[in-house]
Amino acid sequence: MNMYELIDRKKNNGELKRKELYYIVNGYTNGDIPDYQMAAFLMAVCFNGMSEEETYNFTMAMKESGDELDLSGIKGAVVDKHSTGGVGDKVSLVMGPMVAACGVPVAKMSGRGLGYTGGTIDKLESFTGFNTSPSVHEFIKNVNDIGISWAGQTANLAPADKKIYALRDVTATVDSMPLIASSIMSKKLAAGAAGIVLDVTYGTGAFMENPKEAEMLARLMIKIGRRQGKKMAAVITDMNEPLGCAVGNAIEVIEAINVLNGKGPDSVLEVALVLGSHMLLLNGRCSSLSEAKALLLNTIKNGSALKKMAQWVERQGGNGEMVYNTELFKKAAIEKQILYTGKNGESENRGMAEYVSAINGKAVGMAVTRLGGGRTGKDDIIDLSVGVRLLKKTGDIVKKGDILGVIYANTMEAAGEAEDMVLKAYSFSDKKVENTSVIFAEIY
Ligand code: URA
Repeated sequence: MNMYELIDRKKNNGELKRKELYYIVNGYTNGDIPDYQMAAFLMAVCFNGMSEEETYNFTMAMKESGDELDLSGIKGAVVDKHSTGGVGDKVSLVMGPMVAACGVPVAKMSGRGLGYTGGTIDKLESFTGFNTSPSVHEFIKNVNDIGISWAGQTANLAPADKKIYALRDVTATVDSMPLIASSIMSKKLAAGAAGIVLDVTYGTGAFMENPKEAEMLARLMIKIGRRQGKKMAAVITDMNEPLGCAVGNAIEVIEAINVLNGKGPDSVLEVALVLGSHMLLLNGRCSSLSEAKALLLNTIKNGSALKKMAQWVERQGGNGEMVYNTELFKKAAIEKQILYTGKNGESENRGMAEYVSAINGKAVGMAVTRLGGGRTGKDDIIDLSVGVRLLKKTGDIVKKGDILGVIYANTMEAAGEAEDMVLKAYSFSDKKVENTSVIFAEIY
């Protein structure tokens, strides 16, 4: 086989066979195919796409490139959840303890944040002492003993995807539907769950721009999973503005704890309930989504989800007391209020009501990165204490002098720059703006 010929065929919109896609993935992973040829191939895929058959075979080749987790030692059907990412997305931290408190095993692998989106593993490290690298034995034992465990992605899970993703990141070849679908599904399939619930996001700060594209991506991933015998469901969510109010590591964990305490924000609870309900359904714990939702809501009302979170944190070496006393989380030195000075910087708001019409999620995520709370390179050490709290969200009325949000920073310079960035992320309108549900569709 000849890589030149395969690149040329994809460039001319031809179809690649299974063994040719395995040749590309394996050859690139073991170093036989150089970066420049792989980059040319990926760019040809960006322009010409892949058929469903090619996407499936590319996924399988990446999945089989490394270890595959064997979760058969866990009692009960494990259902995984994956989000395609969004700013302020702390849903896993809410949903995990709720689902585990319903008796459904949660065995989850998550990544670290890169760029303007955060990662659950970083957020969990806001708990003092939390070990995000349990051995596979400990991971499985935790799930069997207390119903929940979490781990960072092991180095050898779908290593082909790891290498290809790093190349896509620097060759402008991330935004391709078959490449995104195969990348996500190769890791999810290698992680060994019997079912997978996908949270496919769209909007500023998400990979998909609109709900139609998000739905196409979801349907493609569902087909790949079902072909592998997995139970699959997907939820399409609007990530045009950050989810909830907190964006940053420790402050997102605190917000998740607040949700488990029944104190909202409602949008975070809404997404956690919908995703969690599909998990309970795929596991077989419930036979309808309404029954599942009622069970999940009860874990908040009776305090069992919060208790489960504390037990889980303790089990992984963290300080479970922090779940009940959020003052114990490390705090940033500076709190700076972001004041609304009037539409377009005008000093008066002309006596008319004004509404927040949009908040650009990516811009808020970039502000948190500027504060030190996000990575620009994969080995960066991040500051877990910094972040942005948005006190006004889309649809809220604002008047001059109102506090739009709060910056948590460790230097005045970073606080000032982040404040400008967050102010620019806001748009305002004289017309009333409805704040609609973040759930666009459910596919199952
Ligand atoms: N997340 C992934 O894991 N891979 C992609 O290609 C995009 C998002």
